Amino acid sequence: MTRVLFVCLGNICRSPTAEGVFQQALDRAGLSKRVEIDSCGVGSWHVGKAPDPRAQAAALRRGIDISHLRARQLKASDFLEFDYVLGMDSDNLAAMQALKPADSQAKVGLLLEYAGLANTDVPDPYYGGEAGFEQVLDMIEQASTGLIAELTCGR
Ligand code: 4NP
Repeated sequence: MTRVLFVCLGNICRSPTAEGVFQQALDRAGLSKRVEIDSCGVGSWHVGKAPDPRAQAAALRRGIDISHLRARQLKASDFLEFDYVLGMDSDNLAAMQALKPADSQAKVGLLLEYAGLANTDVPDPYYGGEAGFEQVLDMIEQASTGLIAELTCGR
């Protein structure tokens, strides 16, 4: 079993979207029994909350239901339990590195490293409009394909 954790700031917009998109990709690739995923935030403000209604609506327009997800905060033990801990932007990554225990073997990086895009940050859509949520979905969908390839045959 390979375990992948997606991390953003609040765990109500980008990382639950990544969890929903990647779960759909795993289901379609027949990998859902081999890969287990979760998402969390580096901050604690939204712990226990469902994804932002705009993120839920945008995902649902692509046939992905993320309404059951609930926010939780990243913890040090996540770096011992997950094989990949993937942040949405470089601020997330800095916070993740600060919490990572020295004996962690996890691959810690950015989700968009698997997207083949010049940009490696998924922009925070929280203070923007609907278009930001569509852009987040586009970027995450692109990275999902690369991440599936990484998990199935390496790179
Ligand atoms: P996320 O978006 O990190 O993609 O979940 C945010 C959600 C909430 C806040 C910031 C970003 N906030 O400051 O409350």
